[in-house]
Amino acid sequence: MWVLDVAAAGAVDAWVGVLDEAERRRMAAFRYEADRHRYGVAHAGLRLLLGRECGVPPADVTLTNRPCVHCGGPHGKPEVTGGPQWSMSHSGELALYAVAPWPVGIDVERPERAVDPVSLAAYLHPRERAEITALPPDAARRAFYRCWTRKEAFLKGTGTGLNDSLARWYVGVDGSASGPAGWSLVEVPVPDGYQAAVAVARVPLPAWSVHELRLDP
Ligand SMILES: CC(C)(COP(=O)(O)OP(=O)(O)OC[C@H]1O[C@@H](n2cnc3c(N)ncnc32)[C@H](O)[C@@H]1OP(=O)(O)O)[C@@H](O)C(=O)NCCC(=O)NCCS
Repeated sequence: MWVLDVAAAGAVDAWVGVLDEAERRRMAAFRYEADRHRYGVAHAGLRLLLGRECGVPPADVTLTNRPCVHCGGPHGKPEVTGGPQWSMSHSGELALYAVAPWPVGIDVERPERAVDPVSLAAYLHPRERAEITALPPDAARRAFYRCWTRKEAFLKGTGTGLNDSLARWYVGVDGSASGPAGWSLVEVPVPDGYQAAVAVARVPLPAWSVHELRLDP
């Protein structure tokens, strides 16, 4: 697993050259500079990692998308031609990546104090809802974000994303929950102010660690 400090990567212009046309179009469409920067740097980091895995320069990494499980359109789970399985998530000033020989999903979020965990828990599995609503407010918010990152990581691993019902699968609010059969779900250590999890279709999960990814201009 890799973590990239987006702010430390410097100006995005240095990295635009490695992106493909679709990535450049998406990057240009962001309204706010901070979003443009995070997207461009996160995708440059992805290409650097996948390029190493595939033995090609970052700009030669070929990214495609599976058909969307909802409408069949060309915007489902992204994949790399001739390479391993991978997943990426970006939020605030962090980008996280997981690369594995098995289906994998990763999610990072920046918990917000304004979020009401009890009302959002209504969309989750009934047992998760019960676990979260039984807690006092601050603990409930932490439990909600632990549950949410576990669930989003799992749904990104399966490739459905949020097209699948959030109430369908039980992932629990922490590592004591076993989660869906055949999947390992674990919290990823990230800096204060963030919450992250990874889901891998492999039980038990072999030893893993988090490395820092650096983009040096
Ligand atoms: C995938 C999804 C969960 C990402 O949520 P998010 O919290 O906004 O963003 P994250 O930073 O965690 O992840 C984004 C990355 O997930 C990956 N991703 C996109 N779709 C994915 C899917 N179906 N499965 C797994 N990963 C996916 C991409 O690498 C994406 O990076 P990019 O946006 O820079 O290209 C969410 O966008 C989703 O559920 N999308 C599917 C909904 C859909 O298909 N709607 C159209 C219906 S026609």
